[in-house]
Amino acid sequence: MIYFDNAATTFPKPEEVYRKVDHIMRSVGANPGRSGHRMALEANRIILDARDSIARLFNIEDSSRIVFTSNTTEALNIGIKGLLRPGDHAITSSMEHNSVVRPLKALEKTGVECARVRCSSEGILSPEDVRAAIRPGTRLIAITHASNVTGSINPILEIGAIAREKGIVFLVDAAQTAGMLPIDVERDNIDMLACPGHKGLFGLQGTGFLYISPSVQLEPIKYGGTGGNSEMDTMPDTLPERFEAGTMNTPGIGGLGEGVEFVLRVGIDKIRSHEANLTDRLIKGLMEIKGVTVYGPGDTNRQMAVVAFNITGKDPSDVGFVLDSSFGIMARAGLHCAPDAHRTIGTFPQGTVRLSPGYFNTMEEVDFVIDAVRKICSI
Ligand code: ALA
Repeated sequence: MIYFDNAATTFPKPEEVYRKVDHIMRSVGANPGRSGHRMALEANRIILDARDSIARLFNIEDSSRIVFTSNTTEALNIGIKGLLRPGDHAITSSMEHNSVVRPLKALEKTGVECARVRCSSEGILSPEDVRAAIRPGTRLIAITHASNVTGSINPILEIGAIAREKGIVFLVDAAQTAGMLPIDVERDNIDMLACPGHKGLFGLQGTGFLYISPSVQLEPIKYGGTGGNSEMDTMPDTLPERFEAGTMNTPGIGGLGEGVEFVLRVGIDKIRSHEANLTDRLIKGLMEIKGVTVYGPGDTNRQMAVVAFNITGKDPSDVGFVLDSSFGIMARAGLHCAPDAHRTIGTFPQGTVRLSPGYFNTMEEVDFVIDAVRKICSI
């Protein structure tokens, strides 16, 4: 089996992650931040350590401003719905995942207005187009760091500088870049950073987090017990508790912390370089096949390890099915929960086939995949 669906979730995980989760499940089964016994304190330590590892990777000064969530979608919902009020204006791009599109669309019913700035046909957003969309009342710029359809990388440094200059909150969806591209919340002027635990950070599915800078005030979207301040019938003002109602996913968060430690140990540069080499070969190999159209920049300086393509005359879902059933290649075909992105690159409504190699894939696997696509073209 060849797993080329790392944009959906990375597989496999580093051995250390499996070991850590197993250890927590067997030996640290208590509820963190609730009881005061030693096992509960150890569980709490696991959560704190994971927060500290994340803070180091993204240059976050105060790790208590990292809120654990069940995925990037929940993180984005907290950031978007917690901030915007009727009359506010938000700017987003035409390459967004439904995790940004749908919360904004829901808020439009309550009187929030939203501009979707069109990206190039390669899927890249122009900072000057973002600047032009700013108007009195613009409160939020919410964009993806890289598209989950084409891998196109957006210039967040430039967009963050514009947001800072104009005093607008800058929210970055790092679903396809966290752990794979350097992100520094200070340098990049990021006010909110939404990340998955289970993709480039090698944690478990059902984990993610939102970093909230001290300049941003949000209303919670979830209410419940936080372990402390139990005398209050409102959510505490302090972070992270304000946004972490209910029992935490201790094994998942511990595994995520171990995944982040793996990224810190190996180094983002090494991970990025390996993934870029695989992607470069994949793009070039696919482009040489007659009948194959590759979408996106086609250049690994401007693209993550996400490659979208179609074969003339074939439905992408059928191609995805044959890749799996005849060649044992795991890919994702269709609209990838990002219909706007497909409208932007001209592949709506049928979508594309998406191949997303990861750190644990090899050049031999890339060559096998290229050969498989060549064979499918000749059927
Ligand atoms: N958002 C993930 C993907 O692109 C699940 O496949």
